[in-house]
Amino acid sequence: MPFDIARNINEEFGSGHELTWATFALRRPGTISRFASGFLWFIEDVVLCAASHGKILNIQDLRRKASEVANLASEAQQRIFVTGATGFIGAHFLRAAVTVGHQVDALTRSKDCAASLSSLGATAIVGDLSDAEGVWREALTNADAVVHLAQPQTFGGRLTKARARQYCVRRLKMDRVLFHAIDPAKTRRIIYVAGTSYYGECGSMVCDEGGVPHPMGWGLYLAPAIESLPGYVARGLPIVAAFPGWVYGPGSWFAQYVLEPLFAGKPVYGLRGRAKYTSPVHVDDCARALLHLIDHGEVGSRYFIVDDAPVPSERLAELAAEALGVNGRGRKLPFVMLKLLSGQVVAESLAYENRLSNNRLRSTGFSFKYPSCEQGVPQAVGMWLKEAASAQQSTNPTISDRNDV
Ligand SMILES: NC(=O)c1ccc[n+]([C@@H]2O[C@H](COP(=O)([O-])OP(=O)(O)OC[C@H]3O[C@@H](n4cnc5c(N)ncnc54)[C@H](OP(=O)(O)O)[C@@H]3O)[C@@H](O)[C@H]2O)c1
Repeated sequence: MPFDIARNINEEFGSGHELTWATFALRRPGTISRFASGFLWFIEDVVLCAASHGKILNIQDLRRKASEVANLASEAQQRIFVTGATGFIGAHFLRAAVTVGHQVDALTRSKDCAASLSSLGATAIVGDLSDAEGVWREALTNADAVVHLAQPQTFGGRLTKARARQYCVRRLKMDRVLFHAIDPAKTRRIIYVAGTSYYGECGSMVCDEGGVPHPMGWGLYLAPAIESLPGYVARGLPIVAAFPGWVYGPGSWFAQYVLEPLFAGKPVYGLRGRAKYTSPVHVDDCARALLHLIDHGEVGSRYFIVDDAPVPSERLAELAAEALGVNGRGRKLPFVMLKLLSGQVVAESLAYENRLSNNRLRSTGFSFKYPSCEQGVPQAVGMWLKEAASAQQSTNPTISDRNDV
């Protein structure tokens, strides 16, 4: 027999006949389409499946199931063009999309990264979003959905205003080139990934997406790109705007500003005075929410991707220190000092209250794996330790030593 569906269903989902079929169809869309087209295989497997649940279905039931399953399969499996797939959120998005059976075309400027994207199950497309005539545009013609995560480099070094201004100009250009290459008659959804720094200072109340933005930090430099989205929507592009909060996980700013210093016994810098509230989200939940919005996001709408409740910004470092088993030292600096140390953009990121609600996202049926950072940070720290240990096992024995703490 080509594939033992009964054994797979039993192992993965247990009993519960109707539910099992729906869940199985959603989780194994590729396999299910094969069954739906190969009717004989399908009958054989369904009979086995039914028998394995102690229930024999009649032929009408089998036909009904076959067409339900085929519908689910075609609805679930999509071709997604992803920009920024080699980045922090992009890598997690890619894994989430491939796991549920989507076909992913992943854009990168680097041939080296192309090889690792292919090994993760994506089709790598080498190209640069600043190249308006690039051959990468051809891959877009097959896309049911586009998830746009690429951004000019933000990472490393001091984030001065001059760097941020360059970022702003480049980001606008990358967006323009991408949007002009998309055919709205073919692409069903475009998930545009923005950031909650655009909403900036929200005061002491919890805000929703309808609140008036007061951009701060990166938000000032994201604003022109975000404010140009309604123009593209008016021209027919099916854009859904996602606004992740502080995305923590085993990489990016959380590793650079929190995990690495804590691990090395160095202080984590903060801003003097009462810690401001912020709205974090675990990178896995962020990636899953972007995937969810492809089917459930409304064109022209904005969605905050944040935990159930905001937390004081220091809370993430406290939880990380606990999970690392170290006595974390925070060092609070006045704004001017922090700005000198890490640049205006980072200093400003700690200087505003950003309490945001995920009600709109939740109302679409999305459920979080880590609804709070109490649940998510220990997992992120564990992943970071594991990745660091396997990357540096041969060169830096201290990582695995500390892993035992
Ligand atoms: N990280 C966070 O905490 C956070 C929070 C809220 C919102 N966001 C938003 O989420 C999005 C993704 O953030 P991230 O932190 O995951 O990004 P990231 O790690 O900085 O990755 C940026 C990606 O952009 C790609 N890229 C850069 N220039 C490009 C170009 N000219 N053409 C094609 N690709 C290009 C890079 O790919 P190659 O180098 O392989 O070409 C890389 O994969 C951004 O829009 C960001 O504003 C991030």
